[in-house]
Amino acid sequence: MANLLSLNDLSTTEINSILDRAQQIHEMNDEGWAAPNHTLVANLFYEPSTRTRFSFETAEKRLGYQVLNFSSNTSSALKGETLYDTVRTMESLGAKAVVIRHQELGYYKALGNIDLSILNAGDGAGDHPTQALLDLLTLRQEFMMLRGLTVAIIGDLRYSRVAKSDAEVLNRMGCRVLLSGPAEWQNELLPGTYVTVDEAIEEADAVIMLRIQHERHEQAMKMTREDYHERYGLTMERTLRMKQGSIIMHPGPINRGVELDDELVESERSRYFKQIKNGVFARMAALEWAISTEAKVLVEPVAEKM
Ligand code: CP
Repeated sequence: MANLLSLNDLSTTEINSILDRAQQIHEMNDEGWAAPNHTLVANLFYEPSTRTRFSFETAEKRLGYQVLNFSSNTSSALKGETLYDTVRTMESLGAKAVVIRHQELGYYKALGNIDLSILNAGDGAGDHPTQALLDLLTLRQEFMMLRGLTVAIIGDLRYSRVAKSDAEVLNRMGCRVLLSGPAEWQNELLPGTYVTVDEAIEEADAVIMLRIQHERHEQAMKMTREDYHERYGLTMERTLRMKQGSIIMHPGPINRGVELDDELVESERSRYFKQIKNGVFARMAALEWAISTEAKVLVEPVAEKM
């Protein structure tokens, strides 16, 4: 079994094959997913989540898996049990895979030698590979090709794991990545070109607005919500200058009226709820891939096989 910790560990061929499978599942209209099987999967969430947690659970149930749900605030984690011991417990119960969201960057490095797949549902400000997969799937459905697209990622670039996973994989897939946001939240490690918010919005085929990650900030935001919205948010006025056919995306949860105008959430350009729907298909394909793929020990990203 393989792990899905960061898309950097997968070749573009593997990423495309997961996306092809997710699209195939999408087109199957729920046919044939009801048969139960004995694959046991555990969802271990140590941080709050709505979309990722419930779309993984939906994906597992559609695949017919048996599902164990764990919440850190009602488990023996409260009595001091480590993540390693919790994952070994799930392995002892017969789980074939664990889906983990944890506040610690790279938490999975402490989980070596465990005989199950780990699917990373978010590690601190590290990676969020399945969010990136569902974002790629949404972009492919909209534009057919990823190569050559211009995608703007705007907002809290330093503390967002979505920004990191998206920017890295979009860059590998041949997209032009534009980055924009407050100077104190810029991240020089992300691949992409920094531009003003207005340039990003005007040039992009897709604009990904990021949630402000207040929970990871060392200092309180210096701006008011209103100031942020005016300087860095997607306002109705700014959307008038978006390219024809361009779309708005957001990983959620949205701070309405801060990252984007309330009215834009369900506007014609918005793909917010489509992204959430695609999360189930992407996670079904990711679970199938992880459980059925030979385990690999990857230190460096594998060579590109474009
Ligand atoms: N996009 C995302 O990770 O949302 P949740 O925190 O609700 O899972």
